Amino acid sequence: MAAVGACFLQQLAVVALLALWCSHGAIASDPGLLQDFCVVDKMSQVRVNGFPCKDAKDVVAGDFFFSGLHMAGNTTNKQGSNVTTVNVAQIPGLNTMGVSLVRIDYAPNGLNPPHTHPRATEILTVLEGYLSMSAS
Ligand SMILES: *[C@@H]1O[C@H](CO)[C@@H](O)[C@H](O)[C@H]1NC(C)=O
Ligand SMILES: *[C@@H]1O[C@H](CO)[C@@H](O)[C@H](O)[C@H]1NC(C)=O
Repeated sequence: MAAVGACFLQQLAVVALLALWCSHGAIASDPGLLQDFCVVDKMSQVRVNGFPCKDAKDVVAGDFFFSGLHMAGNTTNKQGSNVTTVNVAQIPGLNTMGVSLVRIDYAPNGLNPPHTHPRATEILTVLEGYLSMSAS
């Protein structure tokens, strides 16, 4: 859907993006989930389109937890921005739910290179500063 072009701003902006963010492609979900959760079994040798579930008796609270979004990413790089991702890779309990979130920190005049999110919808919330966007 949206292809976000160059995103510029005049002052530091912190952006929370509730979306399917993934530079490697989107992770889609089934609209009618057949189970409450399917925590990623990182040890599984099974290869499926997604990640296999671990045994429910091995699920722990930490499978649904992430800490660190309160910390600004280092924007001293070529793009002048830094993306902190929170998806199934960081929260194994998000597996099959098609939900991910990112925090993007921008330095003044920083940008987010053009990209797409196939089959995904994204919501951007600017918490501080402002963004200039172009979409195609
Ligand atoms: C983003 O910020 C983190 C935390 O400061 C840093 O470790 C990482 O190298 C930064 N990434 C880029 C692409 O600058
Ligand atoms: C941010 O990244 C730059 C470039 O890698 C580095 O020189 C600087 O020390 C980093 N700043 C922090 C606060 O980590």
